[in-house]
Amino acid sequence: MLLALFCFAMVLLGIALGAHAFKNESPRIFSLPSDLISFQPGPGSQIATTYCLICHSAEYVYMQPPHSREKWKEIVHKMKHTFGCPIPESDIPDLATYLVSQNEIQPMAALQKTAKKSASHGLQPVPTSSGNSGRGKRIFGTYCVNCHGSSGHGDGPIGKALVPPAADLTVIGKKSDKELLKTIRNGRPGTAMPAWKHDLSPQEILDVLAYIRTLAS
Ligand code: HEC
Ligand code: HEC
Repeated sequence: MLLALFCFAMVLLGIALGAHAFKNESPRIFSLPSDLISFQPGPGSQIATTYCLICHSAEYVYMQPPHSREKWKEIVHKMKHTFGCPIPESDIPDLATYLVSQNEIQPMAALQKTAKKSASHGLQPVPTSSGNSGRGKRIFGTYCVNCHGSSGHGDGPIGKALVPPAADLTVIGKKSDKELLKTIRNGRPGTAMPAWKHDLSPQEILDVLAYIRTLAS
């Protein structure tokens, strides 16, 4: 009986690890971005990070369909009362507001929108000029700065120590958008550069590209 339970637990663990491993196509030396940083920063994100990551990945929450504020409150109440999430009642309104604000930037919804747009125009995804460097700056500060450094020279606290070190993004002027987008989406095999297509929406990837284009000078 104990053995059966143990096997069952191992199978569950296997599924969890397996599912995770399949998402990351390139090897990651560091587990960046970790689940802990993957709730987009904003008012209330700290509540989600503190109380929701105990049991779920942020990605799981982003994969939910858009919900109204009432519906999010209802879900969070269920997490609290049915599943034992330790969130204080007083944090629930702020968290619900945050979760509604994340409806729009769900990675899944963004992917579907881009897919629809390019299908209806018969075109490849939106050109880089549609990237917003202001939003890109925030994304860079969350996901890229530890390796590429705040000025983009590849001298972030982690980036310097890597072999090869993180790329100097101030000298990418000659590279095409297509080439850079491919590296950001898929990572660079054989280096620590992670694939971002699972953590950032296509629009966010365009935004961050628009921002790193501003670093050259
Ligand atoms: C103590 C563990 C635990 C915590 C903490 C927790 N959840 Fe859950 N969550 C669950 C379980 C268990 C389910 C049900 C999964 C199923 O039905 O397959 C679930 C399901 C969900 C669902 C799916 C929709 C639904 O109604 O079942 C959403 C959305 C969700 N959680 C969001 C959150 C958010 C947001 C937080 C942070 C406040 C959170 N969870 C915290 C355990 C937890
Ligand atoms: C864990 C460290 C790490 C993180 C985090 C990271 N990078 Fe990188 N990045 C690298 C490494 C290492 C390389 C490859 C250097 C090489 O090929 O010599 C690289 C290469 C690149 C390149 C290719 C540059 C070129 O000259 O072709 C781009 C563009 C890039 N990163 C953008 C990003 C963006 C945008 C983010 C955040 C969304 C990010 N990186 C996050 C480590 C990282």
